[in-house]
Amino acid sequence: MAWKTLDDMDLNGKRVLVRVDINVPIVDGVVTDSTRIRRIAPTVRDILAAGGRPILLAHFGRPGGERRENLSLNQLVPTLERAFETKVLFAADCVGTEAELAAELLQPGEVLLLENTRFHALETKNDPDLAAGMARLGDVYCNDAFSAAHRAHSSTEALARLLPACAGRLMQAELEALESALGQPERPVTAVVGGAKVSTKLELLSNLIEKVDYLVIGGGMANTFLVAKGMGVGKSLAERIMKDTAAEIIKKAEGLGCQIILPTDIVVAETFKSHAPHQVLPADQCPEEGMILDAGPDSVARITEIFGQSKTVIWNGPLGAFELEPFDAATNAAALKAAAMTRAGQLTSVAGGGDTVAALNASGAAGDFSYISTAGGAFLEWMEGKTLPGVAALDQAG
Ligand code: 3PG
Ligand code: MG
Repeated sequence: MAWKTLDDMDLNGKRVLVRVDINVPIVDGVVTDSTRIRRIAPTVRDILAAGGRPILLAHFGRPGGERRENLSLNQLVPTLERAFETKVLFAADCVGTEAELAAELLQPGEVLLLENTRFHALETKNDPDLAAGMARLGDVYCNDAFSAAHRAHSSTEALARLLPACAGRLMQAELEALESALGQPERPVTAVVGGAKVSTKLELLSNLIEKVDYLVIGGGMANTFLVAKGMGVGKSLAERIMKDTAAEIIKKAEGLGCQIILPTDIVVAETFKSHAPHQVLPADQCPEEGMILDAGPDSVARITEIFGQSKTVIWNGPLGAFELEPFDAATNAAALKAAAMTRAGQLTSVAGGGDTVAALNASGAAGDFSYISTAGGAFLEWMEGKTLPGVAALDQAG
């Protein structure tokens, strides 16, 4: 890893431009999950402790280059103040005279938050002039937004080339966790991939079969694999046009020594509802009116047995319709096994992706995982083996 960390930088008296991802969910002006904000607090704290003046740059939602009051970052100031336990000032633009003045007047111990970078249309074009305007506000650049590192934008990419640059604490933790899960993992490695569609995870599956020893496939996408193996899946969610692709993945995995684990038994209902009447059937016996909503107990036993043999688990996507009880059972049972093994020091467990984290939180297992990523799209792209522009820019700057 070629990038620098905060420890490599002289921060005393410096204005530190910190790119954070505080793209948190908000309902009626209330932050419903402040995880991303809490996770950047160590970076802010360490900069303050080193005598630096943190100036936060961030996007919020997708305003499409226009100023939109409902996407103003101003509304996050109270949540940030609680998380950082310090005063947070706000500038109504991320470049220009007002922002420059606010950055100049920032006092030791205070934090400055700049307005949504995506109010400028040039941000998402990775425009160097916009980045130059941002660079005028700081002496040092720190990227702590791993979850936005898959975007090559002015504040994540171009800016890293204009100032001495380093990774923040969260970026560092994310990259180290991913490296331990998929870069140089302790083997055997098991990947769990769930979610609705094979088509959105093709690149992921292709990359994983080259890297992992076991690949557990769950959720709606497992149905497509069952179809590829010639089984009927009734009214289940399945991408029948992807069946040849799924068959190819199975074949390629065999050649690479990666074992693909599909459900051997299934939980079937006729309606997509919580507590819908359901039955457990062998995987090849889904009735025509049936919908597969979860993996069955035999499948779970097989998955937990494979975890038992593994040293590393990397997880993206739930195993069933986890938002509907009791179709969260397979996800919960597998997650609790991974959590217990991690607690016992037998397993490194890393998970990421919006739905995944929601499912693991609901199972009560998340707290015991070795690492839970704050990233959705960036986590997926990293697992696909792609270079993330925000990380690559730091490497070069380092
Ligand atoms: C996210 O929440 O996925 C990140 O903040 C990136 O946002 P984006 O998908 O709108 O680029
Ligand atoms: Mg996204």
